[in-house]
Amino acid sequence: MATNRTFTMIKPDAVGNGHIGGILAMIADAGFRIVSLKLTQLTVADAQAFYAVHSARPFYGELVEFMSRGPIVAAILEKDNAVEDFRTLIGATNPADAAEGTIRKKYATSIGENAVHGSDSDENAAIEGAFHFAGREQF
Ligand code: CMP
Repeated sequence: MATNRTFTMIKPDAVGNGHIGGILAMIADAGFRIVSLKLTQLTVADAQAFYAVHSARPFYGELVEFMSRGPIVAAILEKDNAVEDFRTLIGATNPADAAEGTIRKKYATSIGENAVHGSDSDENAAIEGAFHFAGREQF
């Protein structure tokens, strides 16, 4: 049985383009409850640590530079089957492959600047949520 929480970030491209409200509305309309929410900015060291699993990938440097270049919105979300349902809502990593009605289809511009992050497993959702939020910030 999947846990009912996932973690997301609205990435610097989408924040910079004024899409915080539109993306949060799609998240709420899909039935997710906000457990935690903040506008924040990753340092280079934060982004390196958050994406350490991708450190051997050719796009790692570009990813770290992008994710630390401006503010993000970080959030923990709750819903039955949260991890899988949120990944359906955001769509494919590459917006060119994202289905109609998904957040990336509407707001993402490229595979690197793809508007939103969604955890890929229950285990990573817990790790990523704890990276950004103390227990007293989770409601
Ligand atoms: P996300 O799934 O949130 O976390 C890993 C990120 O790496 C992914 O979003 C993309 O932003 C980025 N990424 C994945 N593949 C590529 C790629 N081929 N080129 C650039 N960035 C990528």
